[in-house]
Amino acid sequence: MSNQPSMVTPITMESPLGARMLIDGREVDYYCGTSYFCLHGHPEVIDAACAATRTFGMGPGTLARMQVYADLQQRLRQWFAADEVVYMISGYSSPMALLQGLQDDFDVVFIDAATHYSALDAVPTLGKPVHPFRHADPDSLAEELARHLRPGQRPVIVTDGVFPSSGRLAPLADYREVMAPYEGALLCIDDSHGVGVLGESGRGSLQHAGLEGAGNYLAGTLSKAFGALGGVVPADAALAEKIARKAMILRGASPAPPGLAAAAATSLRILQSRPEMRSSLRSNVKHIRDGLRKLGFDVADTPVPIVTIAGEVDLEGLRDRLAERDIIVKLTPARGYSDAADVATLRIAVFSEHSPAQINRLLAVMAELL
Ligand SMILES: Cc1ncc(COP(=O)(O)O)c(C=O)c1O
Repeated sequence: MSNQPSMVTPITMESPLGARMLIDGREVDYYCGTSYFCLHGHPEVIDAACAATRTFGMGPGTLARMQVYADLQQRLRQWFAADEVVYMISGYSSPMALLQGLQDDFDVVFIDAATHYSALDAVPTLGKPVHPFRHADPDSLAEELARHLRPGQRPVIVTDGVFPSSGRLAPLADYREVMAPYEGALLCIDDSHGVGVLGESGRGSLQHAGLEGAGNYLAGTLSKAFGALGGVVPADAALAEKIARKAMILRGASPAPPGLAAAAATSLRILQSRPEMRSSLRSNVKHIRDGLRKLGFDVADTPVPIVTIAGEVDLEGLRDRLAERDIIVKLTPARGYSDAADVATLRIAVFSEHSPAQINRLLAVMAELL
């Protein structure tokens, strides 16, 4: 996207990622990115990646079977309570695989105008008419559906479940209401930031919204909450077969390296066996959201660990002053990412591994600086 402001982050990581980590030679409290459980830096995950790399090498060099991928599949099926979980090299390609797999099941695409690049890049491969609707706006979706659908045509609605720079939740239940008059209407979400985090057992935004099943699908990633790499699409056997037949990435691209598959399987095991990590994330999200609201910011009450603030504040100055106190947060420039606002915002990502004391320090330093 050449006409967009640069998103280069001016920091160099010198330790595994964590709530407390080494950046540019200093130990800092880290509130950026997407590693909601800090599993990218978890010692057991790193050990699993090293062991699988020693056993299986860097990859199969073709589409051969390896036990490490079968083990991951099993964990993924358990996590998503799905018959199958289609797995591929990257989260970025998972919306494409999902939409290509379903492409005989819809006629017209309706896409939230701020949907992530992953789905924006995928949609032209479908060869179907595409109509954007206003960001997170069910009324706009209703208008576009009424304006563009001819009798008998089946729509697919495409959106992020959780938007990556704002942390906004898509109003999925409202979309479903608006879609009700259209028989066969499908909802496909990029849930890269929802899986692992949202919903009673961490299956993501559809579970959170009570919308699992019945024409609602998600594509996700293992590179954020799950601390590794790879794209996933939970599916029944019929959908998995369609994806395998129609999405060429499943046939024409290598899988993620064995070390990454083992890392993801280990992350899933850790999260399954330590439910306190998910509860700690939930309470940290509440802690930071409540605290920012007390500081006067307009912050929604949601379980999303990405919080953005804006307003009449010198956000760049605030980001820099926080950094001087070894607290790292991210400034998203106006229109600097797929879903970024028209004004700059400060993005704070909270992890399960931040201690209450760390969050209190962030809030206290902010209160002092504002
Ligand atoms: C909403 C969304 N979808 C897809 C991706 C791509 O995921 P991955 O980096 O795992 O390929 C990202 C990554 O930032 C994202 O934020």
